Amino acid sequence: MNEIAERLRVAARMAHIAPFEVMEIQTLAREVEAQGRDVVHLEIGEPDFRTPRPVVEAAKRALDAEPMFYTSALGLMPLREAIARFYAERYRVEVPASRIIVTAGSSAALLLAFGVLLDPGDEVLLADPGYPCNRHFARTLGVVPRAVPVGPESRYQLTPELARRHWTAAARMAMVASPSNPTGTLVTPAEIQGLAALAREKGSTLLADEIYHGLTYGLDARTAAEAGEDVVVINSFSKYFQMTGWRLGWMVAPPELVRRIEVLAQNLFISPSTVAQHAALACFEPATIAILEERRAELDRRRSFLVPALESLGFGVPVVPQGAFYIYADCSRLTPDSFAFAREVLVEAGVAITPGKDFGANEPQRHLRIAYTQPVARLEEAVERLRRFLARKA
Ligand SMILES: Cc1ncc(COP(=O)(O)O)c(C=O)c1O
Repeated sequence: MNEIAERLRVAARMAHIAPFEVMEIQTLAREVEAQGRDVVHLEIGEPDFRTPRPVVEAAKRALDAEPMFYTSALGLMPLREAIARFYAERYRVEVPASRIIVTAGSSAALLLAFGVLLDPGDEVLLADPGYPCNRHFARTLGVVPRAVPVGPESRYQLTPELARRHWTAAARMAMVASPSNPTGTLVTPAEIQGLAALAREKGSTLLADEIYHGLTYGLDARTAAEAGEDVVVINSFSKYFQMTGWRLGWMVAPPELVRRIEVLAQNLFISPSTVAQHAALACFEPATIAILEERRAELDRRRSFLVPALESLGFGVPVVPQGAFYIYADCSRLTPDSFAFAREVLVEAGVAITPGKDFGANEPQRHLRIAYTQPVARLEEAVERLRRFLARKA
């Protein structure tokens, strides 16, 4: 250890913040590629689509025409109004623009919601497996993530019954993601109503992460915003709108919380990216929506190919995902250790996938997350490589 490293005192909370395993897989994938070998990337949480052209053009026009000053911490009013119209048109739910807060990705929205609603020592109930950053946002604020193990019987989702059974005296929030990362499964509107009622009964809050909304196949998801003004809804321009790198999301907040969130957002972020907000105004234009809907159909084609293909290799897919772009596969018939398996498959077969370890402590060794973020031809190639790899091991 060098002298500076010895002197630096790292905060104790960092002991609870685990690295993102998928990033480690990506680093290993780059090493494999540096040896001149081809890797099919099925580990990454973003599709291969570029930001729709009308959005990029809007950004270019704004750079020429608009001053790139800070905006209000709540976001540009025309964008907040456009998001409010989106709720009216897509979901038939009236949400006034005054309740919409534009944020630096849904990541900032999650941090703001936790920051405004939770004290150190409070607990937040969340599904395991689930999106890993949630528990790390909690830990950063001294909040305790209370993981509720979930399985196929509840479509890997937190239900009102499970939440009640696991509720603790310190619980101040229950959180769901629908569609979920890593399972692609949805919470039903009745379950959302039940969870919102339970949160009310307990004097706490329901937070619904809807960042994969728009990416559902064979059905259109309903928003948790319809379950009451007191439900906090998080969404993003990252996934359906394909703007991951622009860092833009939003929150639908209870009216009583808007001012508090504004104050915290002013301090933590000042404002979301100005150019990204101008670009996002083009997201709701019919020409953009047409592009996005075509891509949604393409993701559905990929899903329809990959689910049966994985099953034919011996993976289990206990609940067919209805949304997002992930398959949470059971690999227990093929390996006792998903972690070692993911590394072996990458190094020996050139297919990058994410081991269950990233998503919690609920049987991670028997699960892998496989993202259908590549064209069908590449998915076919990945399946062939896996087939040969498994045949060699048999
Ligand atoms: C369930 C879930 N929530 C939130 C996020 C954060 O996304 P962003 O900050 O890009 O909106 C992600 C990213 O993958 C996610 O999977």
